[in-house]
This record gives sequence, C-alpha cells and structure tokens, in this order.
Amino acid sequence: IEDDWPGEPADQYWRQQLDQAEEELRQGEWSAASRRAGAAQLAGSARARWLLARAVDAEAEARRDNRLLTRAITAYLDLLKMNERLTDHKLLQVAHRTLDRIRFRGNYLSAEPVYRLLIRRFPDVPGYYNNLTISFLMANRADLAEQVLKDTLKKWPDDRVALAHHGFVLKTQHNRLEEAVEAFQKALQNDTGPATESRFYYHLGDSLLLLGRYEEAHEVHKRGAAMGHFLSPSQRSLYNVERLKSRPWWNIEQTPYTKLARALEKSWKEILKEGEAAKALYEKEKEGLKERGEWSQLDLFVRGQEIPNRCKRAPVTCSIVRSEVAASGCRRGQIKFSAMEAGTHVRPHVGPTNCRLRMHLGLSNTKDTYLRVDKETRQWQVGKTFMFDDSFEHEVWHNGTGTRLVLIVDVWHPDLTPAERRSLPPI
Ligand code: LMR
Ligand code: MN
Repeated sequence: IEDDWPGEPADQYWRQQLDQAEEELRQGEWSAASRRAGAAQLAGSARARWLLARAVDAEAEARRDNRLLTRAITAYLDLLKMNERLTDHKLLQVAHRTLDRIRFRGNYLSAEPVYRLLIRRFPDVPGYYNNLTISFLMANRADLAEQVLKDTLKKWPDDRVALAHHGFVLKTQHNRLEEAVEAFQKALQNDTGPATESRFYYHLGDSLLLLGRYEEAHEVHKRGAAMGHFLSPSQRSLYNVERLKSRPWWNIEQTPYTKLARALEKSWKEILKEGEAAKALYEKEKEGLKERGEWSQLDLFVRGQEIPNRCKRAPVTCSIVRSEVAASGCRRGQIKFSAMEAGTHVRPHVGPTNCRLRMHLGLSNTKDTYLRVDKETRQWQVGKTFMFDDSFEHEVWHNGTGTRLVLIVDVWHPDLTPAERRSLPPI
C-alpha cells in the first residue's frame, strides 16, 4: 500500500490519519474509516479517496445495501478522476473493482467513463473497446454501441468479438441481414476464437433463415449443435433447463394439461367470440418473422401476469386459463390470440426457451393452414387443441381464405419442479 502512495498526503498529521483509517478498514470498522478518509482536508488526496471508496464498498457488501453500493461506485469514480496520479497497476486495480461493482449494481451506463479511461491509458487493448460496446448493449443503447464498434473495427478490422457484436447490431437494429451474415461468418470462422458463443451462432443461423438461405442455415445449426451451443440442430432456444424431455409435438393426454385442453375445447365458441370482439386491440407482429402476409396478436397474459384489464375483454377465456396456474402463471410464456391473414408465410424460427410447451386452440378459418414443427406438419381444427414445443424450429403457412384465429396458451414444461417454476427468471 505504501508503495502505491509515496508520501501521500504530504502533511504528516493527515498521513497518520490515513494510516489509522487503513487500520480501521482492516478491522472492519468501516464507518470510522470512511469518516476519517472523507475529511474535507483530504479531498485532494488520491489515497484518501481510495480508502473512502473501499470502506464504503466493504460496508455495502457486508450490509448488502444498494444505496451504500451506489455511494461506493461514486467514490471509486471520484478517485478515477485523479487517474494521472495513479500508476498503471493501481489504475487497473481500481478500474476492475469499479467495473465489477457497476456490473453487480446493474447500472451499465456508468461503466462508460471507466472504459474511456482504460482506452486512453491502454489504447492497444481491444478488450476495453469491446467491453464498452457490451456495456452499451446491456444498457439498451445500441446507438452508442455502434459508434464504439465503428472505432474498434477501424483499428482492428478482424477483431472477432467486435465483428460478432457488429453482426448482432446490424441484424437486430437495422435488419441488414446480408451484412450481419458476413460479420458473423468472419467472427465464427473455423469455429474458433473468443466470439464462438451460442447467441452468435443463433443469430447467424436466424439471419440466414430470414434471408431464405435454408441450406446454409442448416449447416450453421449443425455446427452450433455439435459445439454444444444448441440442444440439437432443430431445438435452438438459448434459455434452457438441460434435463427436460425434448420432443417437437406432444400428446396432451400424456401431460398434466388434459383438463385444461378439454375445458378450452368445450368453450371454443365463446372463446372465439371474445377473440373477435377485441379485434381493435390486436398488435401487428413486429419481429420480422413473416416472409409475406399479415399476422397480429392480442396478449392476455405475459410472463405469468395479466395485461391490466385485458381479462374484462375475455372473461370466459381468462377464467379457464386461470384454472391452471401452470398456464396463467407461466413466467416464461404468454397467453394470446393469434390472427393470421390468408396468404401469410412465417419463416422458420424458434422460441427463446425450452421451459414451456405451447397449446393452440383452433378458432376459425383453419382450412389450408399448416404448422410445421421440426419434421412434422400438422393442421389446426376449429374447436380442437394440440401442443408443441416452440423451442424447436417451426414454420407457418396460411394458404386458405379468411382470418385464421387461434388461442395460444403456454404452459410450464411438465418436467420442471415447483421450485424451478418459482425461481426461473421470466422471459
Ligand atoms: C408460432 O408460435 O410461431 C405460431 O404457431 C403462431 C401462430 O399464430 O400460428
Ligand atoms: Mn413461433
């Protein structure tokens, strides 16, 4: 410690105060240490700022107190403002602790000044550029991430991590799929390097599917599955519980959801009426999955929660799905009406998780409509349910006439334990 702060501060009295604060910190007397290190007269001392930040940090950790943690982060950032006075070694130590705390707090935007500092001090390390990009993406600021990516790729055109994130931004923000494919392909070349992550294989394959380049997509999916990024080439959800039974189509009788299915089928006419009466509230599908046509949906439950006041519009439907908490309480699914116009084709795609199964109740105009899940294509029937696992690749055609309406009810995968249903983060 002495080596890091030669003769800091110059005044002997204050230097002794800091020695004492240091000792208090060691003893776990955080308040005393932070009071001493925070004295106004020490405002110009980097060592005092360091001790203050560490004392508040240690107290925040011990008390699990987020307000204290925010204060600790501010204190570290204050110290970093004196960065010219810090050695490389000290700067890295402080920066890493600050970034760790910022990540823990979940306030990703406040990482920016730290990474900017690291980039200025160590301009030849692409990792700091890339981590700044990732912080911006975590903070939902793709616009800011893009500028960093531009700078990064200008300096290091072959940096795989930057290429992969650039592909991600091109695809998800701009729908520039060809360019995204090129970036991903470079990033994942030979299936080696630091960018070989599941989500990049997923987005490369998905871009190819959206472009209708099915054979190339299939090759990517085989590679991804062989590397363990997917459960299988056709089951490509990214948020999985590994041990769950995997099959594309399910026989409802062999699940605990027979009663729910029978109840829905029994009331299909009232459910159809409710779905049609609420037409004004439907929202267009906006994930870009359609190759052609129109497709809109009306959510009733999302992530295990009713959309406020929705059930007033569909009381019969809601009372039936509420009788099965694995449906109305499925935090990794939705309950919704899905209306598809004639002439629609939905490109092959997969859902995000293997933790739910998807029940459909056919309601209207099901003639000449098709749902392929993995290798098997089935048709809806009015008043009838079926069940599939939407983490498998699936594709939809409406080659008939009129608006095809179905009710979609996601339920927890039957193999999930009660504890998992309570604790899995929602999707
Ligand atoms: C899907 O889940 O992608 C489709 O089955 C939805 C629909 O309306 O057919
Ligand atoms: Mn789907």
